[in-house]
Amino acid sequence: MRLSGKRALVTGGASGIGAATADRFATEGAAVAIADLDGAGADRQAAAIRARGGTATGLAADVGDDESVAAMVDRAWEALGGVDILVNNAAIPMPGTVETLAAGDWDRVLDLDLSSIYRCSRAAWPRFVAAGGGSILNTASVAGVIGMAGQHGYSAAKAGVVMLTRCMALDGAAYGIRVNCVCPGFVETPMAAAYFDAQDDPEASRAAARAAHPLGRMGQPAEIAAAFLYLASDEAGWITGTALVIDGGLTAGLPPG
Ligand SMILES: NC(=O)c1ccc[n+]([C@@H]2O[C@H](COP(=O)([O-])OP(=O)(O)OC[C@H]3O[C@@H](n4cnc5c(N)ncnc54)[C@H](O)[C@@H]3O)[C@@H](O)[C@H]2O)c1
Repeated sequence: MRLSGKRALVTGGASGIGAATADRFATEGAAVAIADLDGAGADRQAAAIRARGGTATGLAADVGDDESVAAMVDRAWEALGGVDILVNNAAIPMPGTVETLAAGDWDRVLDLDLSSIYRCSRAAWPRFVAAGGGSILNTASVAGVIGMAGQHGYSAAKAGVVMLTRCMALDGAAYGIRVNCVCPGFVETPMAAAYFDAQDDPEASRAAARAAHPLGRMGQPAEIAAAFLYLASDEAGWITGTALVIDGGLTAGLPPG
């Protein structure tokens, strides 16, 4: 087992990529704390892991709120007897153009998709320093690497996540804190389903998304969890500050013709 003896806190762990990551980490021997705005969902995920013989606890938390984040960190460290891996994964979508996005929604997506990662990392940081190190993993997106029409707030936040990852990696290196992020293409989760369902022709939109990935399909949450597993493991002990793109070739370049 690749995470034997490790303890992980996963935000946004009630659904999608976060749930798959918590599952995979537990399967690989980690004890996990699953934090989510949907506290009941976090409890359900934790119960499912325990039912399979793993160690897991669910926490209700809002990564947009300083006090809630402080309480989340306290409770996770207490429940697991410490935390070695923090996965900053919770985020919200925010479609809209320069003309249509309300000013408050710009602030909201920057806060929940970028500042929240700083908020959670800053709350955990002194504990990682005191413990002699740790691993911080952030969920960015291909939207942080290439621009996405109609997603400028989300894209700007995710680009910020990539740069925040690099800067925190530099700050953390002296303390043994590794900081990395992943940049997924479209992944089949409830967030992606809601995006497609909101389009005029959801099936055509799904087909276009599949076609945009040279490998001809969207990703699965387990495929992102596998990358997080590698980056969290001791095998990645010399990797910090990286943004690992996992996108079926979406950002590799233009297709033939
Ligand atoms: N699905 C995709 O195509 C895709 C692609 C690239 C990146 N991502 C990123 O992956 C991450 C996970 O997305 P997903 O697709 O699994 O979405 P999801 O909606 O299935 O899961 C997101 C989870 O985050 C939780 N959450 C939202 N706001 C929160 C808050 N303020 N505090 C705590 N928890 C909160 C939600 O309750 C939900 O359980 C996000 O960072 C997203 O931006 C997703």
